[in-house]
Order: sequence, then structure tokens, then C-alpha cells
Amino acid sequence: MTDTYEIVVEPIQTSKLASTDFDNLTFGKSFTDHMLECTWKDGKWQRPVIKPYGPIMMEPSAKVFHYGQAIFEGMKAFKDATGEVFLFRPEDNCKRFNESAKRLAMPEVPREIFVEGLKQLVNLDKDWVRYGEGLSLYLRPFMIASENGVAAAPSTEYKFMIVMSPAFAYYKGDVRVIIASDFSRAADGGVGYAKAAGNYAASFYPNNLALKEGYQQIIWTDAATHNYIEEAGTMNIFVRIGDKLLTAPSNDRILNGVTRRSVMQLAKDKGITIEERRISVQEIIDAANNDELMEIFGSGTAAVIVPIKGFKHKEFVHELPVLENSYASQIKEHLKDIQYNRVEDPHGWRVQI
Ligand code: COI
Repeated sequence: MTDTYEIVVEPIQTSKLASTDFDNLTFGKSFTDHMLECTWKDGKWQRPVIKPYGPIMMEPSAKVFHYGQAIFEGMKAFKDATGEVFLFRPEDNCKRFNESAKRLAMPEVPREIFVEGLKQLVNLDKDWVRYGEGLSLYLRPFMIASENGVAAAPSTEYKFMIVMSPAFAYYKGDVRVIIASDFSRAADGGVGYAKAAGNYAASFYPNNLALKEGYQQIIWTDAATHNYIEEAGTMNIFVRIGDKLLTAPSNDRILNGVTRRSVMQLAKDKGITIEERRISVQEIIDAANNDELMEIFGSGTAAVIVPIKGFKHKEFVHELPVLENSYASQIKEHLKDIQYNRVEDPHGWRVQI
């Protein structure tokens, strides 16, 4: 760590830990005692500060409120049976954060602030990371345009922050999806590959329509033809036809998920044939009609791996078979074993705090 980014720590007076109900966690609702804040102004990053979690003061004209110049990452910390705490592939998230920053005309955040800041913050609040099936600490680094003024131009000031939330499951209950035939999440040359806040805002309206029909998420299709599947709600998508696992290739419309890459690697390690290629909606429907469609699942940091129980595309409605020992459950178990330090970590994904 360089002296320039040495982090100032302003600890809390009284912890909220005792009043947090870890048995009834709603995803992303409770936050730990501390947060990290670092300001970019005069063309450089100022000294990062770890301080009590709480409101921040901003003027109503701050650009983020008007133009949505905002990006984020989703990451997790895990505790093992002996109480040691680990991050999962933090360098990958740091890299992707800075790819998002570049696309949104924002300054890159040095890894000394992003990764070292995360480590210090998680270490300070490590009692908030609980050991137990499905339990983790969800980490949310984000950056917003904080310059005042409504001229439509990149901000000259930014806030990089990290907040942390004790987490259990992201989805409660079964997930069924609608395969989009008109709405799109991203288009060529756009910001689909970036973790831009606006990508998620734009998905809320179509997702609300799906919810009204009794479907929890949308499988996004390509904007040009709606013939190829791209992502599953806020997750990357995997489809198993016969014994083969397929996933859509990453491109400028699709988020290059860290969990997605981990799933692909673990599938390869298990000798599962995996193809990264375009998957047409028709191929899925044909496989469903021929009883060859075995599984569809989504992967993401928050949700980990979520089996899709059924889908609808226009008038076609289909329920997936219930499988013993599905690829989704095998890969999820292995991934969790690595994250909770229960097995070897041959790819070096765990980073001990
Ligand atoms: C994540 O999986 O961390 C995400 O970014 C999804 C988020 C919208 C909850």
C-alpha cells in the first residue's frame, strides 16, 4: 500500500451488531457498522476514510441524480468453521469495476483503495460475517458522480464508497422466468457489459410486468432479433441440453460475471462439456419438446446459482424436470465449499483477510 492511500479509520461508538437479527435477514436491508468513503476531486483520489455507516450529504443538483453516472460491484466475504474470513476473487471485481468506470467516463479506482480498502473494512466488521450454510457478508463497492450542476457532461467529482450487508438467500422460493420477446436489457455498443446502475433501473419495469404474470425474472434476449438468450434477470445464464452445458458468450451486451467464470471453470474441472456460444430460443424450445432440456440456471454473486423451475416464451410454457444431482447443485456445492474454505482452492480464488 502506498502512503498516499493510507486509510483513516474513524470507529463507531456503539455497534449495531447485537440488534441485528441474523436469523431473519432480508437481502440488502441491514448494513454493518462501518463504510468506506473516498472522494475524487482536483483530478485525484483523496485519502480514503473508514467511518460509521450513515447518511451522506449531497446537493440535489449532483450529477448522479440527473444522469445516473453510477457504477457498482457485488462481492461477498465468507467465514470458515475456524472463524477465518475470506474474500472471493476480489481482484476480478476490481478489474471489472474499472472497466465499468472507463465506459461511464469515470476515474479508475486504484486497487490499493478498492482491494486494500475492502480488506480493512471487512476486517474491522468481521464479526458481521457469520459462519453457516448460505450466510455471507455482501459487499457493495460503488461510485457516483458527486459534482453539483445539471450540465450533461461527466462529473469532475466522484465518491467511491463501500457498504456491507449481512446476507442469506437472494431469492426466496422458486424462480420461473419469461423469455423476453420485445423488451431488451442492452444493445450493441451500449453499456450492457458494465455494472452501470441504469442497466438495473431499466429492467425494473419489464420485470414488474413479469411479476404480475407470476414470473420472478426475465431472460433477456438480444435486442436486434430477440432470438438469442443473453442473461437471466440480474444473473448470467446456463442451459443444459442433454449432458452439455451452454452459456451465452460475453460481449458488449453481457456482463462478464465472476460467478459465471467460476461456474465454467468448475464445470470443466468436473469433466462437463461446456460450450460458450449463442443459444437460440428455438433451440431451447426444441430441446424442451424433445425432453432434452435438463436444466436452466442463473449465476451471480448475490444469488450464487439459482435453478429456473420453468419458463414462458410467447404462448409456449414449460416446466423443467426436477433432477437428482443436477449440474446446478453439483457446481453450487463445490463453489460454496471453496468459498467457505471446506476444500482445496486449486484456482487461488480465496483471499484471506
Ligand atoms: C450481484 O449478483 O451481486 C448483483 O450485482 C446483482 C444485484 C443487482 C443484486
